[in-house]
Amino acid sequence: MSSIGARRRFRSPAPPLPAATPPTRKSRRRCITATPNSVPTVIQMIDTDENQVESHESNGVKSRWNPKDVEQLRMVKEVLHMSTAPSTIVCREEEQNVVLEFCKGCVEHEKAGSLYICGCPGTGKSLSMEKVKDSLLNWATQGDFPLPDVLSVNCTSLSNTSDIFSKILGLHKALGKKGSGTPLQQLQNMYSHESPTTNMILIVADELDYLITKDRAVLHDLFMLTTFPFSRCILIGVANAIDLADRFLPRLTSLNCKPTVVNFRAYTKDQILRILEERLNELPYIVFQHQALELCARKVAAASGDMRNALCICRSAIEMLEAEIRESACSVNALEEKSSSEQNLPTAPDFVKKQEFDMVRIDHMALALSKTYRSPVVDTIQSLPHHQQIILCSSMKHFRAAKKDTILGELYKSYAAICKSSLIPPTGIMEFSNMCRVLNDQGLIKLGQSRDDKLRRVTSKIDEGDITFALQGIRFFRNCLQ
Ligand SMILES: Nc1ncnc2c1ncn2[C@@H]1O[C@H](COP(=O)(O)OP(=O)(O)OP(=O)(O)O)[C@@H](O)[C@H]1O
Ligand SMILES: [Mg+2]
Repeated sequence: MSSIGARRRFRSPAPPLPAATPPTRKSRRRCITATPNSVPTVIQMIDTDENQVESHESNGVKSRWNPKDVEQLRMVKEVLHMSTAPSTIVCREEEQNVVLEFCKGCVEHEKAGSLYICGCPGTGKSLSMEKVKDSLLNWATQGDFPLPDVLSVNCTSLSNTSDIFSKILGLHKALGKKGSGTPLQQLQNMYSHESPTTNMILIVADELDYLITKDRAVLHDLFMLTTFPFSRCILIGVANAIDLADRFLPRLTSLNCKPTVVNFRAYTKDQILRILEERLNELPYIVFQHQALELCARKVAAASGDMRNALCICRSAIEMLEAEIRESACSVNALEEKSSSEQNLPTAPDFVKKQEFDMVRIDHMALALSKTYRSPVVDTIQSLPHHQQIILCSSMKHFRAAKKDTILGELYKSYAAICKSSLIPPTGIMEFSNMCRVLNDQGLIKLGQSRDDKLRRVTSKIDEGDITFALQGIRFFRNCLQ
């Protein structure tokens, strides 16, 4: 099975664009459109953002937001952050329902069974499983059914693939059962004999492909647990590959116990748009021009249908607006300074001072999209050796907390902490320092001068967004990036 990281590299092999610069607002009429498979080009006139705001305001629904307000900015970014669970999950009602009904049937009839959820990255599988778990427990409580025990495992977090069996057994042990043999043998033994007091167990095994061992034994044994006559397992396996069950569980197929497959298809343009709008609905103001969201949805749907990308790009478009605001503040200041030094000159024109930058427009989005899909920096980061990627990831965390720069010794501590938390042996400080030099040579960080290596100043030379986008597809970095 190919790695998720590899599968996520869907960007078009087009030549790199020049580094994206924040848009300057030359005209109030912007003219951008895009075809589904291309980066937007300027060909068609569209309405101004002002018109857009007016139409919303005349509905009396929402007010303008103020992107200069730090708190508002934080709220907007949070709503668009992939680790922020949305209050409603739209566009996955049907899939959730299939899984929920399956689980209800198992609980109601005290019958074991298995399901396999598959779909491309960012299609809402993990998110939906959280919702299904909650719904099942609510339903069981309300219907007075015995509550199933729930075991949610992200298989990437298991140090040993067979630890999944100890975890399942752990739930039974909590009920006071004792036995001998390996955890798997104990479970097999337990599920071969009637035991009316044992609760049903809902096991949600996310990133299931991590359990694929050379001999395929763990995956196979796990699913086989649901076929024992007195099994209590409702097993929901989640992974990307559509044919995992066929390829790795042939015996289950021959026993006619092949898990039912629920496919989470890549999100379409309309679905991505709806999800974005639903998330933004939680805010009391309008942040994006509608066409901007539409452009994002169209491009992401054509490229991958990965909701993580859509969210990342929207956040990056906000950063374009922020950059524009900063740039405009600088030019107003420059004009002010000039006019006060040359007394006869008028002060900065009113229209410059009053210019309001309160919407993420389609041109911001176009820039964010072109940065994301055609950035040579993203390519460079993705092709770095693993430890250098960890350094970039830790530098990002560090700069986020401590701002702007740090010293090499401190960066080493953050790097070593990430390595340790992931049970990867960190390199020594000398090798770390050499790797930083390589990153410096690649233009990804800037290393200052100092006699003592540990005291060399380190500054980031790239956007946080590029690091996030480049590494988000690699499972290892998911937790670090959030
Ligand atoms: N229907 C949706 N509504 C709101 N947000 C969504 C929806 N689907 C996905 N998202 C957002 O996208 C993120 C990624 O979704 P999720 O983790 O469920 O993907 P996945 O299918 O499990 O991907 P992977 O195969 O990489 O594990 C979620 O954390 C959530 O922020
Ligand atoms: Mg997932």
